[in-house]
Amino acid sequence: MKCKITGAQLKPFMTFGKMPIANAFVKKENFDKEFFFEMQVGFNEDLSLFQLNDHPKPEKMFNKHYPFFTGSSEFMKVHFKDYANFVKKNYLNTNSKVIEIGSNDGTFLNNFSDKKNIIGFEPSSNVADKAQKNNIPTINEFFNTSNVSKLSNFLGNTDLICASNVICHVPNLNNLIESIDLLLTKSGTFVFEEPYLGSMFDKVSYDQIYDEHIFIFSATAVKNIFKKYNFDLVDAFPQNTHGGSMRYIVKREKISSPSHNLKRILEDEKKIKLDTIESCLIFKEKCKISKEKIKNKIINLKKEGKSICGYAATSKSTTVLNYCGINVDHIDYICDTTIEKIGKYTPGTHIPIKNMDYFYKNQADSVYLFAWNHKNEILQKEKDFKGEWFSHVAL
Ligand code: TYD
Repeated sequence: MKCKITGAQLKPFMTFGKMPIANAFVKKENFDKEFFFEMQVGFNEDLSLFQLNDHPKPEKMFNKHYPFFTGSSEFMKVHFKDYANFVKKNYLNTNSKVIEIGSNDGTFLNNFSDKKNIIGFEPSSNVADKAQKNNIPTINEFFNTSNVSKLSNFLGNTDLICASNVICHVPNLNNLIESIDLLLTKSGTFVFEEPYLGSMFDKVSYDQIYDEHIFIFSATAVKNIFKKYNFDLVDAFPQNTHGGSMRYIVKREKISSPSHNLKRILEDEKKIKLDTIESCLIFKEKCKISKEKIKNKIINLKKEGKSICGYAATSKSTTVLNYCGINVDHIDYICDTTIEKIGKYTPGTHIPIKNMDYFYKNQADSVYLFAWNHKNEILQKEKDFKGEWFSHVAL
């Protein structure tokens, strides 16, 4: 297939300034070795696609130190179980072959019992190890044409390819779609979920933008991209994960016609101008207002003598902290459940990351909820905390 996405018109419209790698939680002795890049975003007018202008090499992000484990959220485990039931009901037969791109610790594939017919691709070795230990067939490689070509049993023989919060990480969409083309049966389905541009604009959750999230998709953009490779977007379903996501259903051209539901979503996107740069320019202004508001909030809390800690050292928090200039002068520590992050510091802003025990023993007056997308789960878990919760996104 010919490369048609590279070289498409990209109009830069905003910079978030110098950013470190969102998940590069750092040890004190490495403070002076941090990598930064200019985090500019642009709008690709040919495809109606929101994207980073430039991004670090994937190997810088997805390696043996990758600190994100899907299974760290109980809510996400339930979500992936429901997601597996949805695809089993709609797109699978007995003996169907299934591939997951970016299978992380195997939380999704764990819901499939026929292990000989499933494979996960996971480039980060520490997370892939965890999946392998749980008997999830996992290839510790990037999903690309050269690696999928080695899977002779799966070539042209895979009924379903799934991905969650992964396709937005892949810089080379050409090669990704070529790999899908090599694997899928004639009537096969590609299902993927991603943070949704409409939700990001609505909530002004600009923290969805960081090195790993090269693209923030809308249904319009997904339709335009896949059209170039003779695939059709045939349906889409909003999801409440990651603060608002969309599940996209893609098939080979002319296998199914687009659903009424999809037509309505595409019309709604037109109405709110998600297909033009106009909506991006409004978002840009809202980001500036959000930045001022959260800085003022924190400065006022400090003036009142209040102590502040953060809850969950998310990848998203790296964007907020660096864009807004919030550091250890403002936030004493951030608590988190991830062993790989505890004892380290936030990228660029050097706020210490502590375990949950520390949070219970060193209660702050106010807590900045960085995992605002897990609000229900966290507020329920921490219902004994008597102080104030706040975030840059409405809670
Ligand atoms: P999430 O918002 O899922 O991801 P991202 O890093 O992509 O922004 O947050 C995952 C992080 O939040 C991870 O470091 C674990 C932490 N976390 C907690 O510490 N406690 C919790 O109860 C939950 C749900 C997450």
